[in-house]
Amino acid sequence: MDDTAIAQLIAAEEKRQRDGIELIPSENYVSRDVLTAMGSVFTNKYSEGYPGRRYYGGQENTDQVETIAIERAKQLFGADHANVQSHSGAPANEAVYFAWLEPGDTVLAMDLSHGGHLTHGNPMTRSAKLYNFVPYKMKNPETGEIDYDELRELALKHKPKLILAGFSAYPRELDYAKFAAIAQEVGDQCLLMADMAHIAGLIAAGVAKNPFDYGFHVITTTTHKTLRGPRGGMILSKGTVSTPLKAPEKTLENIPTLIDRAVFPGMQGGPHEHIIAAKAVAFREALQPEFKTYAQQILKNASVLADELQKRGFKLLTGGTSNHLILADVYSSFGIDGKVVEETLDKIGLTLNKNTVADDPLPPFRPSGIRLGTPALTTRGLKEDDMATIAEWMRQAIDKREDAAALEILRREVRDFARKFPLPSDS
Ligand SMILES: Cc1ncc(COP(=O)(O)O)c(C=O)c1O
Repeated sequence: MDDTAIAQLIAAEEKRQRDGIELIPSENYVSRDVLTAMGSVFTNKYSEGYPGRRYYGGQENTDQVETIAIERAKQLFGADHANVQSHSGAPANEAVYFAWLEPGDTVLAMDLSHGGHLTHGNPMTRSAKLYNFVPYKMKNPETGEIDYDELRELALKHKPKLILAGFSAYPRELDYAKFAAIAQEVGDQCLLMADMAHIAGLIAAGVAKNPFDYGFHVITTTTHKTLRGPRGGMILSKGTVSTPLKAPEKTLENIPTLIDRAVFPGMQGGPHEHIIAAKAVAFREALQPEFKTYAQQILKNASVLADELQKRGFKLLTGGTSNHLILADVYSSFGIDGKVVEETLDKIGLTLNKNTVADDPLPPFRPSGIRLGTPALTTRGLKEDDMATIAEWMRQAIDKREDAAALEILRREVRDFARKFPLPSDS
């Protein structure tokens, strides 16, 4: 590469990734094939529209790439329709709102400090300015169970047009059947949407429940987390797929068509066909038997890591994990906030993020918690036996956070250990 400034930064980032242990639960490492597709000449191509219905010529290859991506996505999740053009998870969620809601309509979604995502109603977002988000919460953060009685009461009171199940920081499985029963009581035109950005890979592998099996109409997801694809979004739906010239009636049956129209031309211009090619590659990888083994290992690693952390004094929200996500209240465990822990662990090459805990008494930029998970380290090949080592490093670093020399020794230990596990893009 001629651009030495950028080439050096790419090399430095690769070294950072290689020399550390990635604990951020929303990150992963893609394969060489996914990287190759992302860096391909498809980035040169404009292809506004959908396969077979484009606004530019020269689509003989893009149409095939996008069709392959769509068919693989449908197969992975048992969907009737897949829109693979969403640029990322946030716009995928916005596209569903835009497809289904009118300004002022009500959405029930998980409270942010109880695990929901920013796009589920944070007042700073465009969606929250357009629609009326009503939050529901966990009944008891000690167990993690959602307060389904409260959810039902809120639903009957506010008559939402959309009920959203999904999370960024919630370590337990949701009871989709309960969501579906509540939506039924609201009426037959209440859209059930699941934002599965975090656990899409687990669902695709069959190690987590699939909301479609419980009557959900729409699943949104990112493609770069447990699904191990390129940075991007996707919207899966049940219903009739059609291409009418006029906007179809807003019925649940028409959801696939409404979503396609919301993504393009509603919200986006030309799709990123190089990313769509990489999504197709990742979906093929996720359809292989090895991917199921990978997803099972994510869960095993997360469960052991949760136990090992608890043994070392970390108080975990909901008392553990049933997926790949672990939330620890470091403020009540050690009297320091999540920012201090994030920065301390950065110094030794363990990367994770600070996070609010339910109804956090501390502010969001210095919250009480940390969030971590096992998708990325499982991709590197770490197994259950390695989890005690990581938990021990975390505790040691917290105890010795004022001691620069001790942190430097830990940094070297982490680096020597991490280098034994290649990045998947090496081969
Ligand atoms: C549940 C959930 N939805 C949506 C998003 C947004 O995805 P993106 O960052 O790709 O816009 C995230 C990202 O972390 C997420 O966790």
